[in-house]
Amino acid sequence: MSAADFQPLSVAEAALWRDELDARGHRLVFTNGCFDLLHAGHVRYLNQARALGDALLVAVNSDASVRALKGPSRPVNPEHDRAEVLAALRAVDGVVIFGEERATRLIEAIRPHVYAKGGDYTIDSLNPEERAALAEAGSAIRILPLVPGRSTTATLQRAAIPEGGPRRLRLGVLGSGQGSNFRAILDAIAAGSLDAEVALAISDQADCAFLETARVAGIEARHVDPGPQARRLGDAAQKEIAEHLRRARVDLVVLAGFMKILRDPVLNTFDGRIINVHPSLLPKFKGVNAPRQALEAGERESGCTVHLVAAEIDAGRILGQARVPILPDDTPDSLHERIKRAEHELLPTILASWSPET
Ligand code: GRF
Repeated sequence: MSAADFQPLSVAEAALWRDELDARGHRLVFTNGCFDLLHAGHVRYLNQARALGDALLVAVNSDASVRALKGPSRPVNPEHDRAEVLAALRAVDGVVIFGEERATRLIEAIRPHVYAKGGDYTIDSLNPEERAALAEAGSAIRILPLVPGRSTTATLQRAAIPEGGPRRLRLGVLGSGQGSNFRAILDAIAAGSLDAEVALAISDQADCAFLETARVAGIEARHVDPGPQARRLGDAAQKEIAEHLRRARVDLVVLAGFMKILRDPVLNTFDGRIINVHPSLLPKFKGVNAPRQALEAGERESGCTVHLVAAEIDAGRILGQARVPILPDDTPDSLHERIKRAEHELLPTILASWSPET
């Protein structure tokens, strides 16, 4: 049977089925719920319900009734899909979709032999109308224990999908200088071409255009003292940076002209989630003064590279590159300016297509 062929039972068909079972001396167990994101708690519950009789009928709340019960961000999955997935479970023999918040009308129509309900209810807390309908139908009521820690809400939380949809990519940006790449990121966000937010900007330089850009944009701006050695970022500074990034719940760390070398705990905390922009076509011209290196090597073209950061400098996996020509009268500065214009295009583009599996 193809997916499109699946059809839930109508209420009339379910009632007929119950009568057929009854005629054979079999017992129909009935339960109902939203069953939005199936988890092991559902499966165990349905297995137990099925064991109470000879066949299990599940009534699935329609999309409108789930919205009424759980709020506008639910259900995650549409009613027909939820019914189809349920029907594929070994414990489930039939599925109906129902539009009311309560199962009263179904109980009246189907008159199940057993009515099963999850353990967040007691017999007393069952809806009075449902209880009356069950009494009228002669249905036995069985409350089954809930499986602790297994719920759709817990599943959604673990998947970090907040109510209202997934959150935007949170960036932590590190820089040491002019901050032109940082401004390119902010411009792309403002233009809507990059769906992200900058949670935090960190610099090893107390007074630089990079940090000022963050302050002007109202972004948390942190100066981290690099420590006693001018060219090396000390252990305390490495820890402090990791802590700031962790606290800001950053998804991705962007080195936009950050002139110090990162080590653990930053590298291992954000393993595979730190990217750098470098002004050469790596693997050529690693390290400092890359535009000057390209000129001195007599290159006819150079460019920029966005790459993952690994322990070895400028050697992580390349995510994207852009080429620029080298002109006859270029100086290191003029070439670097041309390369930076290419960086301002490349970096936001790579960020816009970022996923942890990139
Ligand atoms: C860029 O050329 C980048 O490739 C290198 O440092 C420079 C930073 O420039 N790592 P800016 O601070 O973004 O203007």
